[in-house]
Amino acid sequence: MAKRLEGKIAVVIGAGQRPGETIGNGRAISVLFAREGAKVMLVDRILEAAEETRVQIEKEGGEAVPFQADATKIEECQKVVEKCLELFGRIDIFVYNIGTGDANNSLEMPAKSWDTVFNINLRGLYYMYRFVIPVMKKQGYGSLVNTSSIAAISSTPMLAYRASKAGMNAFTQSIAVNYAQYGIRANVIMPGLMNTPMAVDGISGATGVDREALIRKRNERVPLKGGMGSAWDVAYAALFLASDEAKFISGVCLPVDGAQSARVG
Ligand SMILES: NC(=O)c1ccc[n+]([C@@H]2O[C@H](COP(=O)([O-])OP(=O)(O)OC[C@H]3O[C@@H](n4cnc5c(N)ncnc54)[C@H](O)[C@@H]3O)[C@@H](O)[C@H]2O)c1
Repeated sequence: MAKRLEGKIAVVIGAGQRPGETIGNGRAISVLFAREGAKVMLVDRILEAAEETRVQIEKEGGEAVPFQADATKIEECQKVVEKCLELFGRIDIFVYNIGTGDANNSLEMPAKSWDTVFNINLRGLYYMYRFVIPVMKKQGYGSLVNTSSIAAISSTPMLAYRASKAGMNAFTQSIAVNYAQYGIRANVIMPGLMNTPMAVDGISGATGVDREALIRKRNERVPLKGGMGSAWDVAYAALFLASDEAKFISGVCLPVDGAQSARVG
């Protein structure tokens, strides 16, 4: 049976992960894409994190190249695209997975914190598209997938995070419409509560809340039996949207959240 991404060239921004007991979204997406036949360029500002993902992919017989770049720096975004063209000659799939929040949700939060969140969640995406989209336009083909969050459409107190992820959703939908005529599709995944190192180890570390207690609390908030999802749930959604199976799907913001965003009241 043909693999779902056979022959495709994919770039994943944020393909490493912070250390933790489980797998992160960017790494799971990269590993799954490689399993399905894509050659994956693993971009991360921390080269060792991307390198760990490469090792995992190569152990399974897949092909991947790590590359160090900070997506908040426009000249580094340009280098990502130049390197991918030099290595593979095209970009079929582009995933922008990076994202960050800030614990300070008051209006008095330092402007620098606001800027950090917006630079990573939104400005880097705009920078990357400045270089990726002309390539896809020329190809007459391309699939863009962005990792947003159900925070974009929910009542989270996270001010900058919510606003930036809502911006990502709107930006992606505009891109989907503006570039549809060139055969470019753009979609967003909105993860809910996932059991990833970023969410569990990250929040537990930052707040001092016991890890197991945090997991229990997050599990209880998810309507679907089983509690939190895993990065593989995000990765399978990304695989579908990236693949030609979704060739008529563009401009969609897909919750991957065990019905959490569907529960009102
Ligand atoms: N885990 C959840 O519960 C959850 C829920 C909703 C949304 N999300 C979204 O998932 C995404 C992250 O998931 P993850 O599990 O892969 O996170 P992660 O933190 O484990 O991995 C992200 C990788 O991105 C890299 N990175 C960060 N900033 C970068 C930059 N400026 N340039 C290049 N690389 C950079 C990091 O070094 C890291 O290796 C974010 O967009 C986040 O908002 C997660």
